[in-house]
Amino acid sequence: MAEAGLSALQFLPAKISLSSLREAARDCRGCPLYKHATQTVFGEGSRSARIVLVGEQPGHEEDLQGRPFVGPAGRILDEALEAAGLDRRETYVTNVVKHFKWVAQGKRRLHKKPGAREIGACLPWLEKEIELIEPEVMVCLGATAAQALLGRDFKVTARRGEVLPSRLAPHAVATVHPSSILRQETSEDREREMKRFIVDLKVVARLLNGHPRAS
Ligand code: URA
Ligand code: SF4
Repeated sequence: MAEAGLSALQFLPAKISLSSLREAARDCRGCPLYKHATQTVFGEGSRSARIVLVGEQPGHEEDLQGRPFVGPAGRILDEALEAAGLDRRETYVTNVVKHFKWVAQGKRRLHKKPGAREIGACLPWLEKEIELIEPEVMVCLGATAAQALLGRDFKVTARRGEVLPSRLAPHAVATVHPSSILRQETSEDREREMKRFIVDLKVVARLLNGHPRAS
């Protein structure tokens, strides 16, 4: 291992709160990804969220704005949440990896999948976020999140929409990544996949409705 043992763990603050984590993550150098990214993109949303949504890593827009899911994939996510009867403002949205990994193609920056080492190095941020928020449902958007949180061999295609137990939340649901909908080639395919995505998010909505939070 090139940078042996290095991970986000070395950068965790002494006193853990969402704001101290967010602050500390700004200076994280737990893996090499910070070197070519604009900034850390930490999770954001409601402190009392009943749902935590976990993506893979920030994209081009997120990297520039410093906020998760604000680009094209975020717009798909917003639309699907609304169609499922969920309000993004009542969720907490974050990613497995907090820096944008990309390769240049001409002037464009193309998303590059994070590797196992980067995912492992960055995971402490996500685990602390989820531990602090204590959501009722953790939603894994795509294979990277599902495999990081539900097991390395987890198959989203086979198990999407199932309600699963998890170490970090009473319930977990895995579904596709909203970018996979954008990548569909025809508008029919896009529509069909959007509908399936909404069906999975409705599973999440039903879980919440079946378990109203005691106040
Ligand atoms: N894709 C992700 O996985 N996360 C983002 O924040 C944006 C795009
Ligand atoms: Fe730290 Fe994660 Fe960024 Fe790597 S990707 S430098 S572990 S915040």
